[in-house]
Amino acid sequence: MAKITLSKLTKRFGEYEAVKGIDLTIADGEFAVLVGPSGCGKSTTLRMIAGLEEITSGEITIGDTVVNDLAPKHRDIAMVFQEYALYPHMTVRKNLAFGLKMRGYKKGEQAPLVQEAANMLGISELLERKPRELSGGQRQRVALGRAIVRKPKAFLFDEPLSNLDAKLRVQMRAELSRLHRRLATTMIYVTHDQVEAMTMGTKIVIMKDGLIQQVGSPMEVYRRPLNQFVAGFIGSPAMNFFKAMLVQRAEGVYVEAASFRVPVPERLCGPYQCVLGREVIFGIRPEDIHSFELLQQQQSAILPECRADSMICGEVEVIEPLGPEMLVLVKCGDQTTVVRLDPRLDLEVGQDINLQLDMEKMHLFDAAHPHARIEAP
Ligand SMILES: Nc1ncnc2c1ncn2[C@@H]1O[C@H](COP(=O)(O)OP(=O)(O)OP(=O)(O)O)[C@@H](O)[C@H]1O
Ligand SMILES: [Mg+2]
Repeated sequence: MAKITLSKLTKRFGEYEAVKGIDLTIADGEFAVLVGPSGCGKSTTLRMIAGLEEITSGEITIGDTVVNDLAPKHRDIAMVFQEYALYPHMTVRKNLAFGLKMRGYKKGEQAPLVQEAANMLGISELLERKPRELSGGQRQRVALGRAIVRKPKAFLFDEPLSNLDAKLRVQMRAELSRLHRRLATTMIYVTHDQVEAMTMGTKIVIMKDGLIQQVGSPMEVYRRPLNQFVAGFIGSPAMNFFKAMLVQRAEGVYVEAASFRVPVPERLCGPYQCVLGREVIFGIRPEDIHSFELLQQQQSAILPECRADSMICGEVEVIEPLGPEMLVLVKCGDQTTVVRLDPRLDLEVGQDINLQLDMEKMHLFDAAHPHARIEAP
């Protein structure tokens, strides 16, 4: 088990800087997820930690040791890739034992470790089979087993579930979380899927263009994204954004966008004073927009703080029923807004709909570079 620290870590491929000086500390036993769009430098970062990629500058520490010049096999970490290659001619048992054998474990020492890993992953029935006799999920488990069998200081995963079908992925996600709880070993998991990041990570590291954008717990980054990129990346469907202006009127402060005007809750007026009269990006998540009619029908107490004038009108463009909820695309002015609504609501494409924004959950970002969050407590 070990803490992992990256400081001012960079990686250049010729002229191209793939990782641009990142600082990150992953505590002992933590499940950290590196998440970000394709090409942002996740795999490169992970490969540098594993020692598979030379670093250009900076420092990597595992436990108390600076590992910059340490060969991969001396770093005592295990890595599982998307393209895991099991040895096709070996049984599952031999595949699991192979790494131990290479590290000089005797036969008698190998057997109990293999059995323990197989039990933990529920593959002890499969030990005498060859990889081609296994399903995709079973093979994935063997690949994981090969990593956990030798109890390394840390695990590194690079999109290990992306070859599995959706159902199996959900199942393996839960198994990995369970495995992490049992082993309590430091894990770093790379994915471009924000749902995977949110559900598995105890710490999420959002990357873009070789830089870290934000580090925090899943709920921290969801509730308080530090810039517009993180706000749009974490949460599904993504947050809605509108170009807007914050305006002081006699009745209070308003967010004014091209097609609507809604009041800022009094609590937030103070913190937002600094951007009065300036162009901002107003953000609101699909789950923080409600159907006004439904709220009224239910005489709902969901939005006690909402003022009657925090309503916007639009036309229903698309309805996507998902069972427990429906996603509705509503055209407001020249912009489409995504709303997550109760499926009991009787809606038809083309009809008008009144939406109530939960302005307590509003986000504001700087309209100019670097689209930073405008802080409110
Ligand atoms: N060996 C290499 N030579 C040159 N450029 C490279 C090399 N490896 C990676 N890159 C570049 O570095 C950048 C980061 O690549 P990396 O593989 O770390 O991205 P990633 O975040 O893992 O993306 P993905 O989600 O697609 O796997 C990319 O622009 C990529 O083209
Ligand atoms: Mg990658």
